Amino acid sequence: MAEHPQTHPAPSKPGAYPRGPERSSGARIRHKLSSNENPLGASPAAVAAIQAAAEGLWEYPPFLDDELRSALAAHHGRGLTPDHFVTGNSGCDVLNLIARAFLVPGDEAVICRPTFPIYETTARAAGATIVPVDLPADTFRYDVDALLAAVTPATRLLYLCSPNNPTGILLSAQQWADVLAGLPERVIVVFDEVYYHFITAADRPDPLADAADGANVLIVHSFSKAYGLAGLRLGYAAGKPELVAQAAALRLPFHINALCFAAGLAALKDDAHVARTVEVTLAGRDWLYGQLRELGLEAWPSQANFVLFRCPTSAPAAAWAEKLQGHGILVRPAFGLPDCLRVSVGLPEANQAFIDALGTLLE
Ligand SMILES: Cc1ncc(COP(=O)(O)O)c(C=O)c1O
Repeated sequence: MAEHPQTHPAPSKPGAYPRGPERSSGARIRHKLSSNENPLGASPAAVAAIQAAAEGLWEYPPFLDDELRSALAAHHGRGLTPDHFVTGNSGCDVLNLIARAFLVPGDEAVICRPTFPIYETTARAAGATIVPVDLPADTFRYDVDALLAAVTPATRLLYLCSPNNPTGILLSAQQWADVLAGLPERVIVVFDEVYYHFITAADRPDPLADAADGANVLIVHSFSKAYGLAGLRLGYAAGKPELVAQAAALRLPFHINALCFAAGLAALKDDAHVARTVEVTLAGRDWLYGQLRELGLEAWPSQANFVLFRCPTSAPAAAWAEKLQGHGILVRPAFGLPDCLRVSVGLPEANQAFIDALGTLLE
C-alpha cells in the first residue's frame, strides 16, 4: 500500500538505523522519518502483554472481539457501547471493510485531494467512482461548500481525514457541523482520525459524540500511531450500531489474533506511553515547523505527528527525498503534491539530523 512500502529492514528500535541498508546514494539510512511511526516505540505495556500472550498461541483467540469492543467503549465514553465498534487488522483493513460494506459499482465516493491514498484504492476496488475535491493549494483547508457541491444522488461515502495526511490540517467544529447538516441521509461520512491524539487546537469536532447521537459517520482509528503498534496491525471503526454491523458482517471468524487482542487491551490502558508520545511529538512538531520556516521554506502548521513542507526549488520532491537519503534521512514525497515532502516527527536527534541535512543541501 502506498503509505507503507519499505524496501529496507525495520529498525529494532525506533528512530535509528544502525543496520540500515545501503541506498542507491550509497548512504545508510540513519533516521526513518517517512511513515509517521512512534519515535518512542511500542507501548511497553502492549509488548509485555504480547510476550505473555505468546504462551497461549496454540489456542484459537476469542471467536468474537467483544472484550476489545467493550474496552473501546469504556475508553471513549460519550455513551458509546460495544455495539458502536468494529475492529480490524489495521486502519487500512477497516477502511477496506467499510468500502466493501457500503459501495457497489455505480456508487460515488467523494474524496478530497491530497489525502491518504487508501480511500481511493479501497473505494475503487469496491467498484465506486471517485469524485475528487481539490483542497485549496495554499492553505489545504477543507472547503465545505466544494465538498457538498460534489455530492450527487449517486454519492454513498464521503471521506474526511482530520488531521489530514499529508497536510496536517484539521477540520473545524463548525465545518463538521456544516457537513453533517448539508449531507443527504444516504451519504455516510468516513471520518479518519488516526492522528487524533496529536490535536492541540481547541476548535475541533467530536465525531465520536455525533456517532453516539446517531449521525451517519464511521470514525476510523488505529493502534499504529500514538500506541506505537504499526507492526501489529490493529484498528477499529466507531459508528452507530446499524452501520457498524454492516462492516462487521464482512469479517472472518477469529479475525483478531491473540497477540492483537492482548496488545490492544493493554495499550488502551497505557496512558503514560501515550502522554510521553504526545509530549515528545508536540515539542518536535513545533521545533521542526519553526526550523523549516527559518530555512525560508513554506511549511504548514500541523495537528498530526508530521509536517508538510514545500521543497526549496522547482526540483521534484522525489529528487529532494533522494538527496536527503544521501544524508541518511528517509522522508516521504507527499501524495498528490509533487513539490512537497512530509517529514514525520522523530526524536530530537533525528529531527536535528534532518534539519542539518536539509540546511547543508540548501547551501
Ligand atoms: C490518515 C491515515 N489513515 C489510516 C492509516 C492506516 O493506519 P494503519 O493501517 O497502520 O492502522 C494511516 C497510516 O499511515 C493514515 O495516515
